[in-house]
Amino acid sequence: MVDAAPQQAIPDAKEAPFSPLLELVGVSKLFAFSGGFLRRRKTFLHAVDDVSLKIPRGGSLGLVGESGCGKTTLARLVLRLLEPSSGTITFHDLDKGPVDIATLKGRQLKAFRLQAQMVFQDPYQSINPRFTVYDAVAEPMAVQGIGNVVERRDRVSEMLELVGMSPAAGFLFRYPHQLSGGQRQRVAIARALVLGPSLVVADEPTSMLDVSVRAGVMKLMNDLRRELGIGYLYITHDLATARYMCDRIAVMYMGKIVEVGDTEELLRDPKHPYTKALLSAVPVPDPSHRRPPVEIKGTLTAPVDPLDRCRFYDRCPMAIDFCKAAPHPELESKGDGRLAACYRV
Ligand SMILES: Nc1ncnc2c1ncn2[C@@H]1O[C@H](COP(=O)(O)OP(=O)(O)OP(=O)(O)O)[C@@H](O)[C@H]1O
Ligand code: SF4
Ligand SMILES: [Mg+2]
Repeated sequence: MVDAAPQQAIPDAKEAPFSPLLELVGVSKLFAFSGGFLRRRKTFLHAVDDVSLKIPRGGSLGLVGESGCGKTTLARLVLRLLEPSSGTITFHDLDKGPVDIATLKGRQLKAFRLQAQMVFQDPYQSINPRFTVYDAVAEPMAVQGIGNVVERRDRVSEMLELVGMSPAAGFLFRYPHQLSGGQRQRVAIARALVLGPSLVVADEPTSMLDVSVRAGVMKLMNDLRRELGIGYLYITHDLATARYMCDRIAVMYMGKIVEVGDTEELLRDPKHPYTKALLSAVPVPDPSHRRPPVEIKGTLTAPVDPLDRCRFYDRCPMAIDFCKAAPHPELESKGDGRLAACYRV
């Protein structure tokens, strides 16, 4: 089970054996801009704002939301490619116990990189076009100083077979431009898994692929998660993809997590007005399951120095006067493991 928590303990979250892998508590990332007369005034874009989430070992949490809501920034924080402005990100290492990612430096940070890897939307982001497949997949081992030449070649071949590039010998010395989009993403997955990580952050890994190869790559990622017991933070703006890939879904809006729940339950019975709007925009083939359209006003704007009130207030069809005066609602338990940040649900 994948869980996500507010800053306080969740009183009635579903009881389940929970072996934590990753826990975020109150994590924020602010980007500063200079503005005003002589650019003296600093303004802050709250890209990720007070986010608390948990991913158990081997679980898959989907992070869903519109473009610009902060998904990639959160992914980069989790992998310590960015430092949080505040909050803690705890990674539970099986050997070393809990480690605070924000404080890692030098050798400890290098050791963390053995455990946590990323699959990007565009495989060219992770594969140097001048590298052969062998170079690309073996590079993390070289960086970590793992194995000799023979061991690396054997491991790379094993990984290529694992991601369905068989026989591996036929691919080892090809260049990315000699591969199809699906094959390139499979190489990126092999590279991400070569060090045996326990956490993979996947940022829209299939959205740039042809529809015809998407399902195959998604199935591969699902099978690998089950076989290898890897935990996923799976970013997508597509709810159908999240449904296939994730045990639980966290919905993000303007830097805030507004709802979290078990995938099927959340899709069947969304609580937060924003989740309802997202779902009502998805076409459903069966007319008896069609939802009434939920109109949201206006457009998504960047949260620059946002007012301390509900982030969704300006667009919310359920907003009342109370929401205007009150602070942004906490993400609270709504029973059965569901969490939502709304005064009206
Ligand atoms: N390095 C940066 N400096 C300043 N602003 C940034 C930086 N990185 C991201 N942002 C801003 O933070 C906000 C969140 O961006 P982010 O890339 O995390 O969104 P996203 O949800 O991944 O969007 P998309 O679905 O388009 O990939 C955006 O307004 C973006 O412009
Ligand atoms: S708190 Fe109010 S404005 Fe915010 S989502 Fe709920 S009803 Fe809408
Ligand atoms: Mg992104």
